[in-house]
Amino acid sequence: MSYEDRPLVLALENFHKQQPISFHVPGHKHGILSGLPQAMQQALSYDVTELTGLDDLHQPKEVILQAEKKLSRLYGSGRSFFLVNGSTVGNLAMLYATVGKDDMVLVQRNAHKSVFHALELTGAQAIFLSPQWNEHTKTVGGVARASVKEALMRYPNVKAAVFTYPTYYGVANAELEDIISICHEQGIPVLVDEAHGAHFVVNESFPDSALSLGADVVVQSAHKTLPAMTMASFLHVRSKLVKMERVAHYLHMLQSSSPSYLLMASLDDARQYAESYNEADFAYFLSYRQQLLKELRSIPDMDVLEVDDALKLLIRVEGHTGFALQEVLEQQGIYSELADLFQVLFVLPLVKVGHMGMPADLIKKFRSAVDALHIADRTALPQVLSLPTMPMSSSAYTVDQLREMKAEWLGIEDAEGRVALEAVVPYPPGIPLLCPGERVTEEQVRQLIDLIEAGSRFQGALDIKTNRIKVVIE
Ligand SMILES: Cc1ncc(COP(=O)(O)O)c(C=O)c1O
Repeated sequence: MSYEDRPLVLALENFHKQQPISFHVPGHKHGILSGLPQAMQQALSYDVTELTGLDDLHQPKEVILQAEKKLSRLYGSGRSFFLVNGSTVGNLAMLYATVGKDDMVLVQRNAHKSVFHALELTGAQAIFLSPQWNEHTKTVGGVARASVKEALMRYPNVKAAVFTYPTYYGVANAELEDIISICHEQGIPVLVDEAHGAHFVVNESFPDSALSLGADVVVQSAHKTLPAMTMASFLHVRSKLVKMERVAHYLHMLQSSSPSYLLMASLDDARQYAESYNEADFAYFLSYRQQLLKELRSIPDMDVLEVDDALKLLIRVEGHTGFALQEVLEQQGIYSELADLFQVLFVLPLVKVGHMGMPADLIKKFRSAVDALHIADRTALPQVLSLPTMPMSSSAYTVDQLREMKAEWLGIEDAEGRVALEAVVPYPPGIPLLCPGERVTEEQVRQLIDLIEAGSRFQGALDIKTNRIKVVIE
């Protein structure tokens, strides 16, 4: 195979071919000292460090710079960066680069927890914007243009706006372009967590990428939808409002000084995969998807929903929660991305011509799973099927004030009107239901109870055994 169009992969391969003798870190010495299974040990022979000819992620001048330039050309950015700690570090860096202590930031309340961590670390003050309910997917989608307009009238000093696009479930906010224009008219940079959209660029049938809609900084988990290793991600900047040097500065501070060459090589490879993805590949992907849809829809009681992003499918079986469906699928060796009350979410492979077709016994396994589900007790779905739009809200206290306040654990039913000390995050998909500093509403109490009853898992300040959450003592 030729690696000419992957500068970093080529440099690593050439280095590897020399059979170099290692008197440098890492200590596994090309995997020789490792006790890992053979395939993993072999991969370690490429796990090197900043040696001559292999450049330096933090001051790229050679092959990493060439690889990042190719990335930037593909996505149409001013500059693009390789990230070795996921979109998580991208979200932290883009916020650090744009806001400081007590600055106001518009935040979509279904943002990933890394955005909330960034707010805590920077000390910025969040104005939480409620997203719209998407009845088709029974999930929260994007923020409405009208909410952004209203927020900017109420809070004219906002310093930045952060949006998630698309959502985990593949819902792409059709109003994002207008929202970006509205923010730009007031000189407010728009930061987009596009963790689930690194593949949008491969074909115009996918939703538009946020960068093409005018966003200033965009973060993408290449590992989620492109063939990159877990954690390998991209960050793109194209902005008159955000200084690229500040983003680079924070990435330098927040990322390891020993970034993994395996991760970086897989980013170079993923970029090349996306760049070389052609119409024939997309047609092949569509026929794979079509076949899967047809087969799944032939199973009685199974409902398959399509969303904006063709790489995602939602699978439901009438009368059963997604959690129960996920369990019986796993008994058949089929692993989904996540489950919620209503469905399981599948992330399809972005196949190219010549890649795998569907496993021959896949549909048989699906049928067995659904049969097992019908034998099991039906789980009553909660009556509350939608999330009414919550009013715009902000933290009742600054990050510093919250840090100083005493807290207590309180039964959920009694928590209405109190201020949550920490986030409460149903997991997956890792989106806070309660944000730190937020006053708990009746609606939030009801949703928490519903989710607990339905067997959801949580991270954050919720004690699932005693049904208590952590609130501050005012
Ligand atoms: C919307 C969103 N943003 C950011 C992240 C974090 O991405 P990573 O796992 O690449 O750090 C996730 C992870 O699931 C996510 O869903």
